Amino acid sequence: MLAGCSSTTAPLLDKREDTLNRFVRSSLLLSYVVCVGIYRLYFSPNAKFPGPKLAALTGLYEAYFDLIPKGGGQFPFEIKRMHAKYGPIVRIDPEEMHIDDPEFYETLYPTSKPYDQLQRLENRFGIPGATFSTARHDVHKIRRAAISPFFAKAKVREQTGHATVFTRCWPPACPPEELTYKRMQHESESLIGAGLETTAWTLALGSASPSCTIPRSTPSCKTSCAPPSPSTSPSAWTTRLPQPERWLHDPRGPDGLHPLTHYLTVFGRGTRMCLGLNLAYAELYIGFATLIRRHRLRLVGTTVRDVAFYAENTILSPWTGTKGVPVLVESSGD
Ligand code: HEM
Repeated sequence: MLAGCSSTTAPLLDKREDTLNRFVRSSLLLSYVVCVGIYRLYFSPNAKFPGPKLAALTGLYEAYFDLIPKGGGQFPFEIKRMHAKYGPIVRIDPEEMHIDDPEFYETLYPTSKPYDQLQRLENRFGIPGATFSTARHDVHKIRRAAISPFFAKAKVREQTGHATVFTRCWPPACPPEELTYKRMQHESESLIGAGLETTAWTLALGSASPSCTIPRSTPSCKTSCAPPSPSTSPSAWTTRLPQPERWLHDPRGPDGLHPLTHYLTVFGRGTRMCLGLNLAYAELYIGFATLIRRHRLRLVGTTVRDVAFYAENTILSPWTGTKGVPVLVESSGD
């Protein structure tokens, strides 16, 4: 009799315990979410900066603009709207601020003052072992030092291939964990990624210059960057066709003092500035010189829309229907 009784109440008790457990777990989770929300809105060191409350509360705000409107990649435009509404410094997500003032670049990216990047960004390209992805400054320094000699101007001139890039790193400067197969794999993937689309797109944009005649002595990598002004954000992007001629005759920036090149931030600044800059310049100079000197090119049906910044998908992309920058080769030299 007793045994029969316990066999019918036991599942009932188990079920009650289960419900209680679930209730406790959900309450704990809810309290955690509420506490994090209150912290982010009122107590975080970032709470004093203006911006949409929803963006301060959750990264889902950014995720929405990254993924949904116009097929995604719209967050830079939303940031621009935030600046128009809230001023030059805005909080764009719980952990990040965006500053719309070219003069602030030096303060933010000094060469003398190292800084860690956000840890969560290490995995954004799935290659956390690459120099580019490394969050901690001390590790980044070791990794950058190991590959940087191969990107020095003299080395680029010698045209040393990337094949030798990984022989420069040995203990004790490089601890053994820096020399694993996986680390090397991540570094090589990063170098291939960093060096391909960047220069390729710059060449394409340069070719979209209206007449395809780039004035003599125009620095070739400068055919495609944003017109600097106090109202543009430090991210260098433009919605216009390239205007290579504005780099002629040593032009000055908005303050009338700094040379315009001071505002050229396409390669970043500071301790994490692009390492492939010299290689990129070499590729662009040789590429443009070959294109412009040997061939007469005419754009075929390319409009501003085909090259203007439409979405940010890691790189800046034009509208999805673009066919790139088709050109007709009218004549060619030797
Ligand atoms: C027009 C061409 C290029 C542009 C606009 C460009 C731009 C950039 C930018 C903005 C960064 C990030 C800087 C930062 O985090 O603050 C970067 C990093 C980097 N780039 Fe480039 N890049 C170009 C070409 C190249 C090439 C050809 C290579 C070599 C294969 C290269 C290798 C790297 C590396 C290794 C880093 C990581 C540096 C570090 O974290 O210390 N880039 N680049």
